[in-house]
Order: sequence, then structure tokens, then C-alpha cells
Amino acid sequence: MTHLTTAGLTAMFLALAGHAYAQTAEQPAETPAPAATEAAPAAGAEAAADAPAETAEAGGTALANGMDLTPDKMENGRWYNAEGVPVFKKEADGTFDYATFSGFRRYSAECHVCHGPDGEGSTYAPALKKSVLRLDYYDFLEIAASGKQEGNLVMPAFGTNKNAWCYIDDIYVYLLARGTEELPRGRPAKRADKSDEFTAQEDSCMNG
Ligand code: HEC
Repeated sequence: MTHLTTAGLTAMFLALAGHAYAQTAEQPAETPAPAATEAAPAAGAEAAADAPAETAEAGGTALANGMDLTPDKMENGRWYNAEGVPVFKKEADGTFDYATFSGFRRYSAECHVCHGPDGEGSTYAPALKKSVLRLDYYDFLEIAASGKQEGNLVMPAFGTNKNAWCYIDDIYVYLLARGTEELPRGRPAKRADKSDEFTAQEDSCMNG
């Protein structure tokens, strides 16, 4: 066993301290708070991430990460749960709301190339239909906006790409519908018509 000299230990300590300092310095500046910070804390987020939706006692449906999937109100032609998080809406006859269909189209145009068809994942990027069962909506938004990198795996930032960002909620609800297995693979067969409110919001986002 080698004996380290005091000088050697000091050098090592300085190197470690320098490393720790560098790490702290590299921390990104405070991330901007998402638009609606009053979102409910993800109760039981540690619970089985990939578990499909389970029926809650109240008659609604919740994800294992605590997210309530029950459509509560419609705004700008899109459905939201009671906490204001976007959700898909499926009628008894299997008809999906327009936003879910829009999400299918935008996902196919912007995300499919890396994340695989129908949110199924690829050898390069994870299955987003599963990611949305684990990540909460705000985590999803943050990654989609700012991107992510791990080694040579690069997730681009979409926050300034209107073709993706104006429809990011649609992509999210589409992926929720896929992840809960409510929507089979492929193009949604039956969907609601596009509403005037949806068109108005779309125009203001794309041209704003
Ligand atoms: C150029 C390829 C590419 C495109 C296009 C792309 N992604 Fe990604 N994405 C990745 C890679 C690679 C990762 C994994 C990055 C990592 O682990 O650091 C990733 C990770 C993610 C994650 C985190 C998943 C998790 O389970 O942690 C989300 C969310 C995501 N992407 C959303 C999107 C959305 C939404 C789109 C379309 C608007 C999109 N991505 C388009 C490559 C891409």
C-alpha cells in the first residue's frame, strides 16, 4: 500500500474541492417556474411508474403518479382536469376530442423521427407514451421546451419551434391516450370536429 505525503493529500483535496466548485458553478441558473405553479403535488409519484391508469374511487381515473385524468372543463377547444392540466377526452363510442387528434399529427411530424411511431420509442429515444405516465405535465413541458442531453443522446429544445410548441398540450394528451392504452396505435379513427375556439387559439399562437 502506498503512503500519501501531506503534499499529495493537499493536492488531492484541492483537486476535489476544485471539482466540487466547478460542479456548483455549472449548475444552470434557476429554472423559470412553469405558468401554473398551483398544480397539485404528484402524490405517490414513486409508485409504479409504468402502471396503466387505474380507476379511482370517485369514479374518475387517475395515473399511478397521482394525475387525475378526468376531463373537467374545456378552454380554447381543449380539455383540462380540475387542476388545469390538459387531458384527453374519449366518448363512449370511442370518439376522441380534436386536441388528441391534433397531438397525433404533431407528434408524427415533430417527435416520431426520434421517439418512434405512436409514442412507442426507438433504439435512440425513450417511449414517450410511458414517459408521460411517470413525468408530470410540468416536467414534460420543461424537457420539451429546453431539451436534454445525455452523452451523445440529444433531445432538441422545442420551446421556440411553433410547429411543436403551439401544439405541445395536444402532443401531451395524445401521449397520455397512448400510454393509458385508451387509444390504439395509428391515426385516431373517430374524432370530434375542430372547434372555432381551437382555431382561434391556434391562429394566435402561430401568428403571435
Ligand atoms: C432529434 C431527436 C429527437 C426529437 C426530434 C425529439 N426528441 Fe425527445 N428525446 C430525444 C432523446 C435522445 C431523449 C433522451 C435524452 C436523455 O435521456 O438525455 C429524449 C427525451 C425526451 C423526453 C424525456 C423522456 C423521459 O422519459 O425522460 C421528453 C419528454 C421528450 N424527449 C419529448 C419530445 C417531444 C415532445 C418531441 C417532439 C416535439 C421530441 N421529444 C422530439 C430525442 C429527440
